[in-house]
Amino acid sequence: MLMRHHWLLVGACGWVLLILIFISKFINFSIRMPDDYVGKTVFGWAMPAVRSINLHSAQQPDKAASEPFTVSSVYPSILEPKDWQSVNEKRLELLSTVCRNSSFWNITHSTLHRFVLDRIFVCDKHKILFCQTPKVGNTQWKKVLIVLNGKFSKVETIPENLVHDHERNGLPRLSSMTETEINRRLHSYFKFFIVRDPFERLISAFKDKFVKNPRFEPWYKHEIAPAIIRKYRKSHNDVESVGLRFEDFVRYLGDEPGRHHLDRQFGDHVIHWLTYTDLCAPCDISYNVVGHHETLEHDAPYILKAAGIASLVSYPNIPPGITHYNRTKVENYFTGIGKRDVRHLYALYQGDFSLFGYPRPDFLLD
Ligand SMILES: *[C@@H]1O[C@H](CO)[C@@H](O)[C@H](O)[C@H]1NC(C)=O
Ligand SMILES: *[C@@H]1O[C@H](CO)[C@@H](O)[C@H](O)[C@H]1NC(C)=O
Ligand SMILES: *[C@@H]1O[C@H](CO)[C@@H](O)[C@H](O)[C@H]1NC(C)=O
Repeated sequence: MLMRHHWLLVGACGWVLLILIFISKFINFSIRMPDDYVGKTVFGWAMPAVRSINLHSAQQPDKAASEPFTVSSVYPSILEPKDWQSVNEKRLELLSTVCRNSSFWNITHSTLHRFVLDRIFVCDKHKILFCQTPKVGNTQWKKVLIVLNGKFSKVETIPENLVHDHERNGLPRLSSMTETEINRRLHSYFKFFIVRDPFERLISAFKDKFVKNPRFEPWYKHEIAPAIIRKYRKSHNDVESVGLRFEDFVRYLGDEPGRHHLDRQFGDHVIHWLTYTDLCAPCDISYNVVGHHETLEHDAPYILKAAGIASLVSYPNIPPGITHYNRTKVENYFTGIGKRDVRHLYALYQGDFSLFGYPRPDFLLD
């Protein structure tokens, strides 16, 4: 009898807790939104920085460009390279070559904005910095770092909701540190991030935020989608019934002046479709490894080994096939979208395609 009361009490507490969490999310959301909307973060490089870190000394020495690169050497079609280290070296060489060609891209900068420092997570115990690029399997890497920081003993035991709870996950951001502390870490720590085909990432972001929305994030459907539809769809009659279409999303992203205007309202939420360049400043920070989602089954163990943590933690199982580039899916999403809109979209992500050796999607552009 006592036991039963005990369990009833526990159950009741559970419900109260759930309700509180629900309410707090809502309150949090409605309070936070106006704040986000005034543009407290920095988007793109033209806007003033909240705080900038001078990185002149962090630049890589200017090596003369060596042999020319072929796409296949960086983005291997054969998934069994003998030596993954040489794949990574080729990727880094391509990155620095394209970065140096800044007269065209205008992406090399000598200051690092606070916005980028916010994206970088720190593991002091093992001297690792990880830049978060949403929609590229970052949840799993954050779990790896949480384990390394000692808060949990195994990746499998970390509750999903804790991973992105930055008050409680014990994963500090680089932006929370002083300039001296930041510079020291940027110079001496192992630094990495993961990329994937820019258009596939976009499709994934679209599906995740505007179609499925599995986490509790109502602002994507209720604030961002209607704003985009109002601006880019001729007829507004079907806003409620149809919701945001990929076509509208592409048009918004390809319209540079219009996007800048909207993004000020959207705040931090745009990180799901910002370019890797804006998120991680790969031309300013000399990363040790740039992993590719498409070859994650090779990249993940290589990163653990290169960071010296392979014996301490393992990357969660990767279901076979899910990381591979799927051209049919990309074609399906872009069916019926005008070439002009696709070309504008490509202009935005062209830097990401070139820096990381992803082939230009000719089948969509020509
Ligand atoms: C630099 O950019 C220009 C303009 O796109 C391009 O023609 C040239 O091939 C690039 N050079 C290298 C080394 O990537
Ligand atoms: C790059 O920056 C320079 C100087 O700010 C500017 O004159 C040039 O038009 C820019 N190029 C592109 C392609 O944006
Ligand atoms: C690729 O995407 C298409 C369309 O979404 C799907 O039907 C197909 O099963 C996918 N192929 C693979 C190998 O996942």
